[in-house]
Amino acid sequence: MATHYYTASSLDGFIATTEHSLDWLLRQEIDMEGPMAYPEFEKRIGALALGASTFDWVMRHEGGVWGYTQPTWVFAHGSREVPQGADVRIVSGDVAPVHAEMLSAAGDKDLWIVGGGDLAGQFADAGLLDEVWVQYAPVTLGAGAPLLPRELDLELIDFARNQSFLCGRYRVLRPE
Ligand SMILES: NC(=O)c1ccc[n+]([C@@H]2O[C@H](COP(=O)([O-])OP(=O)(O)OC[C@H]3O[C@@H](n4cnc5c(N)ncnc54)[C@H](OP(=O)(O)O)[C@@H]3O)[C@@H](O)[C@H]2O)c1
Repeated sequence: MATHYYTASSLDGFIATTEHSLDWLLRQEIDMEGPMAYPEFEKRIGALALGASTFDWVMRHEGGVWGYTQPTWVFAHGSREVPQGADVRIVSGDVAPVHAEMLSAAGDKDLWIVGGGDLAGQFADAGLLDEVWVQYAPVTLGAGAPLLPRELDLELIDFARNQSFLCGRYRVLRPE
């Protein structure tokens, strides 16, 4: 079982604008049946974690409907309204105990850190992030929510072009 951070990014390393807009991403061409696309990736996922801004974006974008079936942990300091029937719990603080809960909920499947970048960084800080998958859109934003604001060494283990996107899959290298 592995813990993945799978996300799309601008070429200059931002996953959303400073106003938390993803319009730059949603207008790009992608083949959902193509290499490294989300539907194939999601089949391996048994539990999700996301930060408060990402949760808020999903709720706004989906009109308050929660679309994921996997057990989900949302990191937030304040409270959040969770749609009825959604398998979502709000947590805060250290990611390590949450990671242990996610592992036991996921069965033999993998874990997905949806974002943002600092939350993925918190899992990396704890030595709990195994892979980073990035779909690079042909856009620069100049500023915004950072892709992964940490100093990490990664090994490129796969790559592909999917229409507009340059897709990379990286293994997180642990310090010796
Ligand atoms: N391009 C893509 O594919 C992609 C993927 C994912 C996300 N996104 C977008 O990227 C943006 C990411 O926003 P962001 O950088 O602000 O990151 P975020 O992780 O979505 O939200 C950050 C917030 O999460 C809460 N948080 C994080 N760690 C916590 C912890 N350990 N304990 C308690 N609360 C914690 C804090 O919220 P509070 O202190 O405010 O409660 C923090 O301000 C969003 O707009 C999202 O929609 C894009």
